[in-house]
Amino acid sequence: MNIGIIGSGTMGSGIAQVAASSGCIVKLFDTNQKALDKSKTALEKVLSRLIEKGRIDESEKSRIQNNIFYVNTLKDLSDSNLTIEAIVENLEIKKKVFSELETYVSNDCIIASNTSSLSIASIASALQKPERCIGIHFFNPAPLMRLVEVIPAIQTSDEILEKSVQIISDWKKTVAVAKDTPGFIVNRVARPFYGEALRIYEEGIADFETIDNAMKKVGGFRMGPFELMDFIGNDVNYTVTETVFKAFYFDPRYKPAFTQQRFSEAGYLGRKSGKGYYNYDENGRVTPNQAKESQIVTSSAVERPHNSELLEQIFERILAMLINEAADALFLNIASAEDIDNAMTKGVNYPKGLLAWADEKGMDWCVNTLDDLYNEYHEDRYRCSPLLRKMNRENKTFFN
Ligand code: NAI
Repeated sequence: MNIGIIGSGTMGSGIAQVAASSGCIVKLFDTNQKALDKSKTALEKVLSRLIEKGRIDESEKSRIQNNIFYVNTLKDLSDSNLTIEAIVENLEIKKKVFSELETYVSNDCIIASNTSSLSIASIASALQKPERCIGIHFFNPAPLMRLVEVIPAIQTSDEILEKSVQIISDWKKTVAVAKDTPGFIVNRVARPFYGEALRIYEEGIADFETIDNAMKKVGGFRMGPFELMDFIGNDVNYTVTETVFKAFYFDPRYKPAFTQQRFSEAGYLGRKSGKGYYNYDENGRVTPNQAKESQIVTSSAVERPHNSELLEQIFERILAMLINEAADALFLNIASAEDIDNAMTKGVNYPKGLLAWADEKGMDWCVNTLDDLYNEYHEDRYRCSPLLRKMNRENKTFFN
């Protein structure tokens, strides 16, 4: 199978590696020769590391490298069966590239976008044959993350959806099919992990480290929300939140936090700038950032519960908000229950699927925790999903 990839940056290079490893012939195109050279050098390094780890041998390395052709014109992708675009996140530029691409490829070529935040319907509208357009959304780093969200637009034909799911499954990825709505599954359902953590901090309930510890020690998450935001970059994470918030017509559930906006404005971006919610040196995390913001918290936090009780409360508040988001995604038919849980465990390494977690905690616990928050704050942000309420009434669980 011939695969064309447009854009040889972080994502395009990763996707090229995945496809080439599965035996596809890949043409990787970028307008910038330096990006192509960088991609080639990066692949060489990654594959050499895999040899050191004993995961592949020299012949496998050459096979993968020989499957990738680095090309300078879009026309070079003309014999593709599937093209995946991973260029700059800009609708007008993507549309322009797509309409040009369509003049070179055959009629049955699938044209896909790896966009994180744009609507697939809007990208598809640039094509003469919009039914061949689909979202194929990988996670970073593409070779390591098992999840791929596949997003049919309202124009996409069933045949293209089926073929796309088949190809991505053949690449040994777990596919979650999602509706063409803001954030698809992962970037929507994960919002409270960051948003509620920031809110807890802003209320002066706990500092960054305590909130991170709650999610790791009580919840079993690999990274706490503040560590993760520092890892992703506060600028990137803030922009995703703001985009999702706007795309949902300012639903308060997705409201961005001033704390993150200020950290982003101040250039406290996280790991990449050496300073975020924590300070970093070349070897990793050093100390919590003693920014003025965190001192305000320490001084205003009165009558703290005992530490383990506090950790439990923080974890349960964030978990209830995550479950609510997952349940609401199911309620609105964004994806199936299985795909929603797979998305969170395989796309962002959650220790458990959120709907399975809801079953474990009990629907009454979910509804009561959310209602307690709503009664406390009277904010729409804490409204309980009608689905959780219905399941609680009917004594149902998501699985079994
Ligand atoms: P990047 O900035 O690393 O790479 C983009 C590449 O596209 C650059 O090499 C650039 O030279 C090239 N490019 C720009 N305009 C082009 C054009 N008209 N024709 C050909 N090449 C062009 O970006 P990254 O991070 O790889 O993101 C690419 C896409 O993937 C975006 O749509 C982004 O939203 C999405 N995405 C990014 C993820 C991430 O974690 N970085 C995760 C999932 C999706």
